[in-house]
Amino acid sequence: MTKKFRSQEKNKALYAMTSQLHQRVILVSSWIEVFIYKHFKRNNIRRNEEDISGKCVVLTGGSSGIGRSSAREFARRGAKVVIGDVDLVNGQQVVNEIQQQTGNMNVKLQKILELDLSDMDSVEQFARRVSKECPKIKILLNNAGIGGSKDENIKTKDGFNIHVAVNYMGHFLLTNLLMENIKAETNSRIVSTTSMLMLISELDIDDLNMDRSGFGLMNCLPYCNTKFCLALFTKALGMCCGFNSYAVDPGAVNTPIMHSNDTPSYLKFLFRMQMNSIATAADEVASEFMMFCALEKSIKNETGRVYRFRKPFHQANEKLDIDLAKRLWEKSSELVRLSERLARMK
Ligand SMILES: NC(=O)c1ccc[n+]([C@@H]2O[C@H](COP(=O)([O-])OP(=O)(O)OC[C@H]3O[C@@H](n4cnc5c(N)ncnc54)[C@H](OP(=O)(O)O)[C@@H]3O)[C@@H](O)[C@H]2O)c1
Repeated sequence: MTKKFRSQEKNKALYAMTSQLHQRVILVSSWIEVFIYKHFKRNNIRRNEEDISGKCVVLTGGSSGIGRSSAREFARRGAKVVIGDVDLVNGQQVVNEIQQQTGNMNVKLQKILELDLSDMDSVEQFARRVSKECPKIKILLNNAGIGGSKDENIKTKDGFNIHVAVNYMGHFLLTNLLMENIKAETNSRIVSTTSMLMLISELDIDDLNMDRSGFGLMNCLPYCNTKFCLALFTKALGMCCGFNSYAVDPGAVNTPIMHSNDTPSYLKFLFRMQMNSIATAADEVASEFMMFCALEKSIKNETGRVYRFRKPFHQANEKLDIDLAKRLWEKSSELVRLSERLARMK
């Protein structure tokens, strides 16, 4: 083994240790912030929301966690909520539950439609059905996601790494296919769920699937990179289209995504405490952050930014380079064959 090779290996190991530490610091500090927000700040917040009664809200990943709580909040405000999710049985139960909890028993107002974000044809089909259901869309919530290092090696039938497809590429395509419906509504908004872990992303646009770079320490890179892609997409959307676009880091909250086999046990313990210690479930707190970006009037002149705990998330926003965002848009359009799919929508 040459000296140079040994020193490269040493640097790599050092880098891996630092990034693992960084990741843990991020998750634990995020957990603490959610806890503090829930106990001490939440009750003093003044809300000034847009009226969405009778308006159409489309959201992905509504059958569980933050998406389910957000769907319930939209329904409570009288919106017509269309949920896209893979699991229709569980999704239908969620729709029933929302109807009971909100007293909004009009079945036509809450709907679950099949959507598999890992399959671009399924995204196209879903977009076609949604554009019939909702000629005007007030809010699109790009929320579904997969995390941890689960199945990081899987390639989808379109040739994407599974995280790239579900967390980013499916949402990129869906948003573009629904663009005309979103533009048709006044003051419409797109909200995408990102994560603070985007701060430790290492994105290479020519290696989106991370075939060359590998998946990083604890296989975290697919998640971090795809959440960064969503934030870059938010930035580009904010500059192009005449509607508002926001990304939200919901903090670290106790949902199924946080209980994968790869989650360290101390984190699982913390997340269970988060659920048990307080009357309101953590995902309900997180859905408040989603409502802020989706509805709050005071930010209606802001667009293309990442928010965290109802405030701009400066560290994340500093990372959003507009040229990078444009290059990512071009590359993604090519990879999902956007113009061909758009032509079929007409
Ligand atoms: N929890 C946190 O601490 C945290 C922190 C930062 C960001 N986030 C983000 O918040 C979002 C919501 O996550 P969560 O915490 O609420 O976790 P969750 O409860 O696991 O929700 C994820 C949702 O995505 C759906 N989904 C997964 N694969 C899909 C696919 N191929 N097509 C369509 N839908 C799919 C899931 O549906 P099924 O249940 O049917 O599989 C589920 O409804 C994610 O984007 C996540 O990255 C969460």
